[in-house]
Amino acid sequence: MNCPSTRVSIIGAGKVGSNLAQRIAEKNLADVVLLDIVPGWPQGIALDLMQALAVERCNRKITGTNNYADTAGSNIVVIAAGIPRKPGLSREDLLSVNARIVTEAAKQAIAHSPEAIVIVITNPLDVLTYLVWQATGLPASRVMGMGGVLDSARFQTFIGMELGISVAEIHATVIGNHGAAMLPLPRYSTVSGIGIDRLMDAGTIERLVERTRHGGGEIVELMQTASAYIAPASAACLMVESILLNQSRILPCCVYLQGEYGVKDIFLGVPSRLGCQGVEQVLELELTDSEMVAFRESDRIVRQSIEDAKAILKV
Ligand code: NAI
Ligand code: 2OP
Repeated sequence: MNCPSTRVSIIGAGKVGSNLAQRIAEKNLADVVLLDIVPGWPQGIALDLMQALAVERCNRKITGTNNYADTAGSNIVVIAAGIPRKPGLSREDLLSVNARIVTEAAKQAIAHSPEAIVIVITNPLDVLTYLVWQATGLPASRVMGMGGVLDSARFQTFIGMELGISVAEIHATVIGNHGAAMLPLPRYSTVSGIGIDRLMDAGTIERLVERTRHGGGEIVELMQTASAYIAPASAACLMVESILLNQSRILPCCVYLQGEYGVKDIFLGVPSRLGCQGVEQVLELELTDSEMVAFRESDRIVRQSIEDAKAILKV
């Protein structure tokens, strides 16, 4: 008898996808199907990962495939297929290539797993999350993007490094788009409950905010041939965990807004409660006038990208 198991399918078995597969399996959250367009590649990665699981004494199964039929019955589909950033390329430069890849991948995956929750990782994140929602016709609560968990982790890291305090004591909030207009919120960032403005001067905070905004680019400039993939995989795994274990964690995620923060019909990063139904609540933070202006700039950029993408895809 075959017992049904929890299954996460990851479309795109590249650096982010393969790292995420390993984290999900080693945390014993689910079996993983890794799908990629390159023949042999996901099968090879899956075999390598299975051998790592043997070392880790972990019984989870990781399968590699080029066939969407093998992803059938997934509880979660993660989309990490596409091209990553290279030096000098913005996330928006990736739009024309990745819009086609991601919408096609999402449609095929959902055809085989109609009940799945979808997490988009591919850049440009916010616009592609919107396109996936449109292409699949899924309820908005079952479509979300990973950006804010990573951006907040970067802000936390920089605060911890500056103060010499364990990152485990630090909570930081970043909202807006996953791009240079993102909005790190020092007013909602604390060290053991103490506002960071009590621990650092305004100039230092502004420097860390700027470093966070360019956190992805900083890594691309250093690595030259790749963009970040280890923290991104950790960030996506946290979202997967909160959904599969119905943890109701409040995580900054790219979610559908219907009037919250004064904007509607757009996907942007805001704190959201993630559980077994997907996005179960969107939390509305009180923003100052200048924070609201910055949030609206994220909205403007993503809205423009959606129009560009619709023209590219002719939809
Ligand atoms: P990568 O190049 O290592 O992997 C991408 C994989 O997608 C490759 O294995 C490629 O063969 C596959 N692929 C391409 N077209 C496909 C298709 N039609 N169907 C199935 N698979 C296909 O790239 P990496 O580093 O894993 O990044 C993946 C994406 O995630 C990039 O767009 C990157 O910008 C984005 N990203 C987003 C982050 C976020 O915070 N939202 C963080 C890190 C990366
Ligand atoms: C990052 O923020 C490239 O979006 C990716 O590292």
